[in-house]
Amino acid sequence: MIPPEAPSAASPRGGAPSGPAKPVPRRPLGHDAPVALLDVQDFGLEFRTRSGTVHALQHVNLRLHKGEIVGLVGESGSGKSVLSYALLGISDAAARVTSGRAMFGGTDLLRASPRSLAELRGREISMVFQSPRTALNPIRTIGLQIEDVLRRHAVATRTGTGPEQGKGLRERAIQALREVAIADPERRYHAYPFELSGGMCQRVMIAIALACRPALLIADEPTTGLDVTTQAGVMDLITGLARAHQMATLFITHDLGLAAQHCDRIVVMHAGHAVEAASTRALFAAPRHPYTARLMSSTPDAQAQLSDLQPVPGQLPDLRRGDLPPCRFSARCSRASARCAGPLPPLVMDTQHSVACWHPLHTEHTEPVEPVEPVDHTTPEPWHG
Ligand SMILES: Nc1ncnc2c1ncn2[C@@H]1O[C@H](COP(=O)(O)OP(=O)(O)OP(=O)(O)O)[C@@H](O)[C@H]1O
Ligand code: SF4
Ligand SMILES: [Mg+2]
Repeated sequence: MIPPEAPSAASPRGGAPSGPAKPVPRRPLGHDAPVALLDVQDFGLEFRTRSGTVHALQHVNLRLHKGEIVGLVGESGSGKSVLSYALLGISDAAARVTSGRAMFGGTDLLRASPRSLAELRGREISMVFQSPRTALNPIRTIGLQIEDVLRRHAVATRTGTGPEQGKGLRERAIQALREVAIADPERRYHAYPFELSGGMCQRVMIAIALACRPALLIADEPTTGLDVTTQAGVMDLITGLARAHQMATLFITHDLGLAAQHCDRIVVMHAGHAVEAASTRALFAAPRHPYTARLMSSTPDAQAQLSDLQPVPGQLPDLRRGDLPPCRFSARCSRASARCAGPLPPLVMDTQHSVACWHPLHTEHTEPVEPVEPVDHTTPEPWHG
């Protein structure tokens, strides 16, 4: 990923420093932090591709506190994964940060050197990916894969006093498997990924992600492809461990039902914008962004009849267009007015409910709406071919 132009005090530009690798001092992240653990402000990111520049993220605000479980929801292509990869420093080489910062315990993740990010990954920030089978190394036993992470971050040598002290990597790996409720962990330690079910592989991924007790876990669609029962087990496991260890968790999903069940707060994304942020209760009681309301009415639940479901009208705009409007939902929105063609109100974090919209639903002081003709941004501009 190409960093933005502005240098940062937290991480001077110029890539990884030369000379022998020195261990990065472990900061007391997530355990005593009085402020937000992760504070993303005005984050913009684009991809330079052969068919044009993809304006993947713009003006994204996001905040997570210690022990909080935040859901990041939105349609496919709304930028959920791109955002999380950028925070971990694992974006595609074509990615370029265009604005903003992402502060994590004094480090701006968008400008940190590759070495600092590598030190943080797995130790302070971990990720559980969508497909555990492709994320796990197929030719290495799961026990050794957990040990690799522990060894990389020297966990076995920095355990505290008492019975924990001196425990070997193998014992720690078996303990990690036990913690994610893998039956017979001593035997499973020697198993290869192909010998395990999809649900078990995901549990192993969670064990790897949590082995170093990170302060922040990012789980990107961690239950996709699992049957409903296994899905519930994996979600209970993630949220149970998050609560037990006071770990902040960013749970990425397009399943609003799962987000409602497991998250404290929810941030809604549409076409690379974070459009609404609220406590789960407030959001589901009265969604304010027209997109969120549409998303909810398109989501099946146990009570709704199939005929009650209404798909979100239209499509996401083509993010390669150079003339994307300030509100990327405007072409799909029945409340759009001339005012929506101007800069949007910012999404404010740490409030009960915030929305980046000029005519939100369920608010007392909604501006009168003078409808405008929708503009089609879904097709590429001519130069895209
Ligand atoms: N390497 C890349 N090069 C160009 N465009 C990309 C790249 N990666 C992602 N994008 C674009 O960025 C946008 C956001 O993609 P992203 O994968 O973050 O969506 P998502 O919300 O995670 O969707 P899903 O729910 O399907 O996982 C999409 O328009 C996608 O095509
Ligand atoms: S009312 Fe305006 S700002 Fe709000 S979603 Fe619709 S077009 Fe966007
Ligand atoms: Mg994704």
